[in-house]
Amino acid sequence: MAEIGKDISKAASLLKQGKLVAIPTETVYGLAANALDVDAVTKIFIAKNRPYFDPLIVHVCNANAVEEYAEKIPEKAFELMNRFWPGPLTLLLPRKNIVPDLVTAGLNRVGLRCPDHPMTLELLKSIPFPLAAPSANPFGYVSPTTPKHVNDQLGNEIEYILDGGECNVGIESTIVGFKEDGPVIYRLGGLRVEDIELVTGHVRVNTVSVSNPQAPGQLQSHYAPRKQVLIGDIQELAKENKSKSMAVLSFRKLNLPQMIKKEIVLSPSGNLNEAAQKLFSALRDLDAIDIDIILTELVPDTGLGRAINDRLRRAAG
Ligand code: TXA
Ligand code: MG
Repeated sequence: MAEIGKDISKAASLLKQGKLVAIPTETVYGLAANALDVDAVTKIFIAKNRPYFDPLIVHVCNANAVEEYAEKIPEKAFELMNRFWPGPLTLLLPRKNIVPDLVTAGLNRVGLRCPDHPMTLELLKSIPFPLAAPSANPFGYVSPTTPKHVNDQLGNEIEYILDGGECNVGIESTIVGFKEDGPVIYRLGGLRVEDIELVTGHVRVNTVSVSNPQAPGQLQSHYAPRKQVLIGDIQELAKENKSKSMAVLSFRKLNLPQMIKKEIVLSPSGNLNEAAQKLFSALRDLDAIDIDIILTELVPDTGLGRAINDRLRRAAG
């Protein structure tokens, strides 16, 4: 198992030696390595069992650092960085050659993000390189939002988990790229579409790509627990699946039949931010108990609800 601690200089020293460290962000925990060191980045792919065609996000300490790694940056990208960084927003920008091919999976754009977590910002300021970091989970599984989640699955692959507590946002960053006709959202996430549109005007959302995904987060089955997840009217689903042992992940409290083994309510007061923050922990908890299926329902499709519904649909494959 990995050591869990709050020692930022220890994390910095391990990263300088080319080792992996799990880091807290406001969205989910990342599995970090020196983004400019190909050997270090290779360890990320091995630890996660991640296919090499899946590019990594590069984490920087502020917007000024972006021009070291990207060029021909659209004006709208600067506006978004100024408004939302540090925060749950990743920008896909034309890369400079200093970024290794392995990081971008050979694509001509690099994903850049400045995470909003005080410990990780301090860490980034204390090292002379940016951090490549995917979510700290085995490829395809639910992202981790606590140090324990990371340790449970990747504890044998890493030495140190920097403990920044539970993630505030709880769902991965929103990914935005730029086409000739304007910005495009490739992954719904912790920054609301409505907030982005205040800066950019209307944005296209293109998060489904079945045959040739721009990002594996676009695959229809991803972010998925091992148990079968069914989405719909929970009362109806419970009737139809009477013969199985069931758990429920509901948005607000429901009046459930007795045969439900466990219910987790994402937000008793119907708050989408709270629901997002709890979502991945809840999926992990239900995945770990002795049941056959998880019944769940979509949440209102607005604000963070859009990202929650996206993850629920992918969890259901
Ligand atoms: O909130 C987050 O974004 C977290 C924290 C740790 O920062 N990171 C995260 O990384 O979710 P990951 O690797 O689990 O998901 C990043 C997604 C992947 O689906 C990847 O394919 C896509 O971003 N991506 C990264 N760089 C890209 C690029 N150059 N072009 C297209 N997609 C890219
Ligand atoms: Mg991931």
